[in-house]
Amino acid sequence: MNILVTGGAGYIGSHMARYILRRKLRPVILDNLVYGHKESLPPRIKFYRGDIADQKLVSKIIRQEKIEAVMHFSAYAYVGESVTNPRKYYENNFSKTQKLLDTLLDNNVAHFIFSSTCATYGAPDTKKISEKLPQNPINPYGFTKLAVEKMLADYSQAYGLRYAALRYFNAAGADDDGAIGEAHAPETHLIPLALQSILNPEKQLKIFGADYPTPDGTCVRDYVHVYDLAAAHLQALDYIARRKTSDCFNLGSENGYSVREIISACEKASGLKVNCQETGRRAGDPAYLVADSGKAHKILGWQTSYDLEKIIATAWQWEKHRRY
Ligand code: UFG
Repeated sequence: MNILVTGGAGYIGSHMARYILRRKLRPVILDNLVYGHKESLPPRIKFYRGDIADQKLVSKIIRQEKIEAVMHFSAYAYVGESVTNPRKYYENNFSKTQKLLDTLLDNNVAHFIFSSTCATYGAPDTKKISEKLPQNPINPYGFTKLAVEKMLADYSQAYGLRYAALRYFNAAGADDDGAIGEAHAPETHLIPLALQSILNPEKQLKIFGADYPTPDGTCVRDYVHVYDLAAAHLQALDYIARRKTSDCFNLGSENGYSVREIISACEKASGLKVNCQETGRRAGDPAYLVADSGKAHKILGWQTSYDLEKIIATAWQWEKHRRY
């Protein structure tokens, strides 16, 4: 099967491309390299540099490469920036995704896997987040992802598009052999920043808020390995294709770890101290986000295979030797 991976040079997309290859399927990558890294592409991969909204280019790729399904990773994901510069997010994450979807429909590509997010739930007042909870995002990033989910539902109803919306919790970790990993510029995520502060103690890690209503006062998140996310994408594709249906799934480990617990886990993995300091809260951070992934377990047969220790071991391996 030929699968177009948009944003395939980005963090999650590049792991997805490798995972598809391992499963003896064929990824074709489309990435504009605004945030992606050419170095993350697997050798001899078919790569197109360009824009998802370029309908001529996408049509050409679909025809030439005989694309049967699309996994759509290309999106901006800086929550803070989405508040200060929402037009960038509505344009890229929503408007361009509509152009992409229209091109797929015009070229009879009917299978679509969408990178959605737990940020579409906002700040729910509950222990574990299931798909039954209302989606009330609290920032433009979350709204753009939710808007695409709504568009997918309408397109599916009207045009027969089959899709899965996969709502990731906190994607983390890296390739087991250290070939690729997380490389955002700027980096804002906790695990890479904690590990970087170990390698370079001048880069002090700020703990954003220690007065949350959580056991140790710091925010709790559900960290899930990128290859476990990748596995869910292929399972979801198989499911929507075989059952001729569409659905949404929460993807998390169902375990919550506080910022302090992550720092301790990074110190354990490296045998070194994280240079950190408590500061005030970061705007827009919910206190507690942990998945109920029962639906993905039951319907897709999805299970995670990386626990927190393994996630951080792969991230540490990557940070120590990173190539880009
Ligand atoms: N944190 C710190 N210091 C830092 C960075 C993060 O204390 O320097 C804390 C945050 O306040 C948060 C936790 O660590 O409590 C995790 O923060 P991340 O930035 O690593 O990830 P987020 O939880 O903000 O991720 C969220 C959603 C994702 C979404 C992502 C977009 O959980 O679904 O934002 O980047 F995709």
